[in-house]
Amino acid sequence: MCGIVAYVGPKEAYPVILKGLKRLEYRGYDSSGVALLDKELKIYKKKGKVAELEESLVGKDLHAHIGIGHTRWATHGEPNDRNAHPHLSASGKLAMIHNGIIENYAQLKQELLKKGYEFKSDTDTEVLLNFIDDIRENNQCSLEEAVRIALKRVVGAYVIIIVDQESPDTLIAARKGSPLVIGIGKDEHFLASDASPIIEYTKEVVYVNDYELAIIKPDELVLKNLGNEKLTPFVQKLDIELAAIEKGGYEHFMLKEIFEQPHTIYDCLRGRLDLSNGQVKMAGVQQNIEQLKNANRIIMVACGTSWHAGLVAEYIFEELCRIPVEVEYASEFRYRNPVIHPGDVIVAISQSGETADTLVAIEKAKEQGAFIFGVLNVVGSSIARASHSGAYTHAGPEIGVASTKAFTAQLAVLTMIALKLAKEKGTIDAARYNNLLHELHAIPEKVEVVLQQKDKIQAIAAKYSNANDFLYLGRGYNFPVALEGALKTKEISYIHAEGYPAAEMKHGPIALVDETLPVVFVATKDAYHEKIVSNIQEIKARKGKVLAVITEGDEIISQLSDDIMVVPEADEIVAPMLNVIPMQLLAYYIGVSKGLDVDKPRNLAKSVTVE
Ligand code: F6R
Repeated sequence: MCGIVAYVGPKEAYPVILKGLKRLEYRGYDSSGVALLDKELKIYKKKGKVAELEESLVGKDLHAHIGIGHTRWATHGEPNDRNAHPHLSASGKLAMIHNGIIENYAQLKQELLKKGYEFKSDTDTEVLLNFIDDIRENNQCSLEEAVRIALKRVVGAYVIIIVDQESPDTLIAARKGSPLVIGIGKDEHFLASDASPIIEYTKEVVYVNDYELAIIKPDELVLKNLGNEKLTPFVQKLDIELAAIEKGGYEHFMLKEIFEQPHTIYDCLRGRLDLSNGQVKMAGVQQNIEQLKNANRIIMVACGTSWHAGLVAEYIFEELCRIPVEVEYASEFRYRNPVIHPGDVIVAISQSGETADTLVAIEKAKEQGAFIFGVLNVVGSSIARASHSGAYTHAGPEIGVASTKAFTAQLAVLTMIALKLAKEKGTIDAARYNNLLHELHAIPEKVEVVLQQKDKIQAIAAKYSNANDFLYLGRGYNFPVALEGALKTKEISYIHAEGYPAAEMKHGPIALVDETLPVVFVATKDAYHEKIVSNIQEIKARKGKVLAVITEGDEIISQLSDDIMVVPEADEIVAPMLNVIPMQLLAYYIGVSKGLDVDKPRNLAKSVTVE
């Protein structure tokens, strides 16, 4: 989703901004642009990749010490040069970038049209910019004041950054609902949607909160609320290194992130899983143990892959903790009128911590008295700040648009929470509890074993890369894994794929089966093993091609399948962390064999900050 970068200070602004935009490419976008202010305001924008913008600017005078840059993921108006950001105000004095959606833009536009304004783009951003400029003009006030007045009328989500021809050393920024980080350097400031464009220069950052306005000069950062009261910026230290956001020798971020999983799962367990004392140590859970263990109901709220993690967790929590669990798409939950009681616990699961639907869903639940527990990857993200408590997944920055290592880390965290609560509640016996602690502990090593099959999975991917459709089937804990496999295939290889509970297949999707349909079974040894063997027979009887993820040594399914991907034996509760790895590799290699941009699949955004 849109990415923003800005700079003010002694450096040349353009190279800082360009590099920053490249670092934000992973968020997904379809056009980009920069505005640079030296003696005059210059704006350059282009449909397509940042590299195309860069190429079009070769030979131009780009000298400036202040500037703003943007990657746009189209919402209002198609992706083209005209609609790309930054936008210039009708007066020609202000340039602005924006991330988010101004919901009442049509009404504001009508007001401006009546006053004779003309618009060069179809965007809500240009409307807001002229609305601000119009207020400044009419009220003869400062830009800062005009922004404050304008934002009180705005409905929607935004981060805006404005550069003003008349104040060549000042950036004005404001936020509501979309992320904004300010990096503090020596006599310089860096602004961005996340920390990745900033960490190269400084580790000191301020996360701007909703309804805050920042006035930023090279040597000064003033933070205010919309009531014009000064706030003290809360300076935090970033705990990520530059290497974590670079490819480190891998062909793609997605591959790097798939291969990082033994370490990311280990990092997630480290310090929490105490085998010698038979304990799970999680401060966020411990501090709220009464609230959590006495929950009447847990509602997992998430989107996409994180929602799949919630589905696996539903099975785990109900099995181990005997607490009723519901798993909700955040986008549905926020708009219906859900029944929430004060004893309910909402678990918000999100890699980015910025997903707009998840953020609003928890805010609504909070208003109704629910306790919000975040399972999040990005430290200091909006959802982290909106939650009462939580646990970080510690998977490190995930740059590939398709979520991989964040998913397995979410599963690791959710399993630990379930184990801790089950022990507190007494719903698990000691032997099973201890066994599961050891099973969890063994996962990173077993993931390593699964990854050794990469060449074999690459060959399987080549064999099926011309398929038009895929069906993914699983039962029990492996049903959400099948859904995740189908989602990865859709995203990365642009092949239509459906995930289904294996038994439900007979109620419809079986009509699709013929000799051209690859059916991926997630069929490792668990309580459903015999049942899934029957489901495989049903597909074979209709000449479907069977690709199965099986447990080492499973001769029965091996003989029934056209192709197999093998994982080490594991308890069914922790097995999803292993079983999803072949799904990730399969989708990755199909995408690569089709020559697709697997790190930045078309139309997708990493951080979905609009609803
Ligand atoms: C799929 C994927 C998305 C995200 C979804 C939620 O590979 O990445 O489906 O899982 O957009 O994002 P977060 O977890 O950041 O809330």
